[in-house]
Amino acid sequence: MTTVSPDQIYEEVQARYGRIADEFKLKVQNDAACCDSEADYCGADLYDTDLTTLPEDVTGLSLGCGDPITLAGLEAGQTVLDLGSGGGIDCFLAAERVGTSGHVIGVDMTLAMLEKARHNQANLGVTNVEFRQGFIEDLPVENDSIDVVISNCVINLSPNKTAVFRETFRVLKPGGRIAVSDMVTQGRFTPQERADMSAWAGCITGAEDVADYVAAMKTAGFTEISVRDKAEPDVELAGTPQDTGSARLFSARITAVKPPTSSDDAGKLGKTELLPALDQL
Ligand SMILES: C[S@@+](CC[C@H](N)C(=O)[O-])C[C@H]1O[C@@H](n2cnc3c(N)ncnc32)[C@H](O)[C@@H]1O
Repeated sequence: MTTVSPDQIYEEVQARYGRIADEFKLKVQNDAACCDSEADYCGADLYDTDLTTLPEDVTGLSLGCGDPITLAGLEAGQTVLDLGSGGGIDCFLAAERVGTSGHVIGVDMTLAMLEKARHNQANLGVTNVEFRQGFIEDLPVENDSIDVVISNCVINLSPNKTAVFRETFRVLKPGGRIAVSDMVTQGRFTPQERADMSAWAGCITGAEDVADYVAAMKTAGFTEISVRDKAEPDVELAGTPQDTGSARLFSARITAVKPPTSSDDAGKLGKTELLPALDQL
C-alpha cells in the first residue's frame, strides 16, 4: 500500500499554491487574463455575493469552491478568522461586512500567497484586516477570540483535519461558529487515490467522507453541525451514512457552533427565568 507523509502533503500543497500566486503576479504585471491551467477552477463566479467592490487583482485569484461569506451572515463589529486565506478575497469581503469596529485575520502557510494578500491590502487601503503566516492545524491565534471562522476550499488540503477542528474550536469564543465552503465526499477515496499528490493539492483526494468530517468536528466539541451539497442545499447530509463504495466529490456548505459556556447560558436566562425568584424576595 502506498503511504504519503503529512510533510509530503504540506510540501506539495505549498509548492502548488506558491506557484499559482507567483504566476498570477506575473500575469497581472503583464496585464494578461487569469487563470492558468493549474488554477482552472478560479472561482469568482462561485459567489452570490457582490464582488464589484473588489479589483480584478483580488477576484482573479479566487481559488475557492463556494461562498462562505453569504453562508456566514457576518455582522458589524465581529472578529472573523479565514483559514487558508490565499490572495485574501474572503478576508476583504468579510472586512466590508464587519466594518471598522470589526477585525479580520487571514492565516495561510504559503509565503507567496501572504505577500499577494498583503500587497492587495495595501492597494485597497483596508485597515481592519491582517494576514498571519501559520498552519491551520496550529493556529497563530488567541484562545476564545473569534466570533466566526470562515474558510474556502482549504480544510480538504490538510493531512490532519482533527487538528484543524480542534484548533478552530480553541480559537472560537463560546457561542462562536464556523461557516465553511469545502470539498467533501460521499464514500471514501482508496489509499492509492489518496497517494496522488497532484490530485490532493488540486482539492480532490484530500477530501473526506462526510461522516468522517462530521466525526472530527464532533470530537473537537462542535454542535449544530450541518453539511449540505452546494448544488442541493435543501438536503441535510450531516446525520446520514455516506459510505457508498466509491467517492462522490462535491462542494459543501458546512456550519457548526461552539456551544456557549454555562455562565453564558445563565446570563441569557437571567432576565426572564430568574424574575419569579426575585419576585419572591
Ligand atoms: C485552494 S486555495 C484557497 C484560497 C482562498 N481561500 C480562496 O478562496 O481563494 C488554498 C489555500 O490554503 C492554503 N493552505 C493549504 N493548506 C494549509 C494549511 N495546512 N495551513 C495553512 N494554509 C494552508 C494554501 O497555501 C492556499 O493559499
